[in-house]
Amino acid sequence: MTLTDLACGVLNCTEPAEKVALTFAAATAWRAGGMSVGTTLPPPRPARPVKPELLRASQMPKRSTGPKGRVALVHALAHIELNAIDLAWDVIARFAPCDLPQAFFDDWVTVANDEAEHYRDLSQRLTEFGISYGDLPAHDGLWESADLTADDLLARLAIIPLTHEARGLDTTPMTCVKLRGNDDEATAAILERTYTDEIEHLRIGIRWFEFECARRRLEPHTHYKALLDVRFTGTLKPPFNMDARSKAGMGQEYLQPWLSGAL
Ligand SMILES: [Fe+2]
Ligand SMILES: [Fe+2]
Repeated sequence: MTLTDLACGVLNCTEPAEKVALTFAAATAWRAGGMSVGTTLPPPRPARPVKPELLRASQMPKRSTGPKGRVALVHALAHIELNAIDLAWDVIARFAPCDLPQAFFDDWVTVANDEAEHYRDLSQRLTEFGISYGDLPAHDGLWESADLTADDLLARLAIIPLTHEARGLDTTPMTCVKLRGNDDEATAAILERTYTDEIEHLRIGIRWFEFECARRRLEPHTHYKALLDVRFTGTLKPPFNMDARSKAGMGQEYLQPWLSGAL
């Protein structure tokens, strides 16, 4: 068994609980040492359960933190975390042929393991609300971004960790405040724990984005903007959580075009 075999095992697994269990087992096996990375290529799309129904982002109900809205919010976040498990394994298997050092694989195994914990905690919270993951619709925007960046490690890192995950850091603190305002301490506590991990995931994204830019002799800040111009279908809007982003190494230099109001 190689690391890319294990990655593809998770990607080809349909059941979320099994994806989580396989992720924990794969992380333990990799960390024990002695395993090679291998060359097994990932499927174009990860296997997914029959439910949830996948809608277009524009068809999704707006998120809120009130008593009704919070169930939909936790369901939407659980869906993001399930995608995030697959995204971490996909980075490992898809870009394994790119001559990357062991630390790259160590980092993304850590991300996969964290995302599996996040999904587990949020799906448990859904059970406490009386529903299961899959009972509400979800949207496929995150995997659409993955598809658009499947050919290039720099594009993938720019769009997924540096843009989508960083956007989560911008919104999570206010979500926690609102949840506490609605007396939902349990959900706020889960989101606060995941928030700390997500800062680390952005740091890992920046680390490998800058590593790959250096190898290709590209200036990372201008190349980030160039990649967003052609690979990102959304819009990047301030306010940014500069405290969390700076902790992760994504300082003002990356965001200047949007901060200056030029866009
Ligand atoms: Fe996460
Ligand atoms: Fe993450």
